[in-house]
Amino acid sequence: MRFPIYRPRRLRQNAKLRALVRETELSVTDLVMPLFVRNGTRLRKPINSMPGQFQLSVDELVKEAERTAKLGVPAIILFGIPDRKDEKAGGAYAPNGVVPKAVRALKKELPELVVICDVCLCEYMSHGHCGVVRTEPSPVGGRGRPPGTPKTYVVDNDATLRLLAKSAQAYAEAGADIVAPSDMMDGRVAAIRASLDETGFSNTPIMSYAAKFASSYYGPFREAAESLPQFGDRRTYQMDCANADEALREVALDIEEGADIVMVKPALGYQDLIWRVKEKFRYPVACYNVSGEYAMVKAAAQNGWLDEKQVVLEMLTGFRRSGADIILTYWAQQAAQWLNG
Ligand code: PBG
Ligand code: ZN
Repeated sequence: MRFPIYRPRRLRQNAKLRALVRETELSVTDLVMPLFVRNGTRLRKPINSMPGQFQLSVDELVKEAERTAKLGVPAIILFGIPDRKDEKAGGAYAPNGVVPKAVRALKKELPELVVICDVCLCEYMSHGHCGVVRTEPSPVGGRGRPPGTPKTYVVDNDATLRLLAKSAQAYAEAGADIVAPSDMMDGRVAAIRASLDETGFSNTPIMSYAAKFASSYYGPFREAAESLPQFGDRRTYQMDCANADEALREVALDIEEGADIVMVKPALGYQDLIWRVKEKFRYPVACYNVSGEYAMVKAAAQNGWLDEKQVVLEMLTGFRRSGADIILTYWAQQAAQWLNG
């Protein structure tokens, strides 16, 4: 029997050799920790479907952020849960809203930590949609529909842009290092860029959720952020999971409009796009390891069906190998502990 000249196993003989030829590095400095903030003090409210994650009051958020920073994680991304929701997402751009308050506290206590603010309206809208909803009231109440459910509605793209720009503005003024629009309205990167530039924030980067899909993997997040749409779904603005060419067009548009970092979301199941976006645009690419990806592994781990540490490190390394420069993950702290040994 003739053996092939190249024997891949030669370089797998021990840990030192394997490390020597390892192609991809997962490092703590590529991770972003998502955190949820709401009003109150000493509040640390567990999120049912996301074991180990909490809604935090600003004081607790600062402590959590400090722990995150101490582990070497360079950045957090903030999601706010307001006291009151309305039809214009007032809480999203109020200068004293929960996110600006949190940002000021964080920048005061932890000036080195990169504070990213998610920019969207769904948490602040009474109906839970990411944009302004225009309705046509149903004529006679309709049958079998909960009272108050509009018969037809549209998410008004251009009316939403103004509110998104105001929100990004409020976060930049509070000291946010990066703003990250996640709404999927057309033209929002341009709108936000223009308003930041006009007001002296031309150095504030935009990380756009450029290829964001309408995904059932966001389920646990909607519990965490209390942002479940009260009617309909997000399919008129988030993407169809079947479409890849369209995802590349979305990314191209956001780059044209001034995005500095482009994101693919979810991450698991969309790694072909992480790869294609990186190959095509050579821009910094982020991916969002979303709440449902977290919940699945947590559930299996709690049952003893998976080894959480090994699975998570494999998953995150896979995102890096796919081309992601940045990974947003609820495991950021935990992965940092594992990686720091
Ligand atoms: C809001 C937003 C969502 C996520 C990030 N920003 C939910 C959604 O679009 O419904 C999902 C994050 C996750 O599932 O971890 N626009
Ligand atoms: Zn939203």
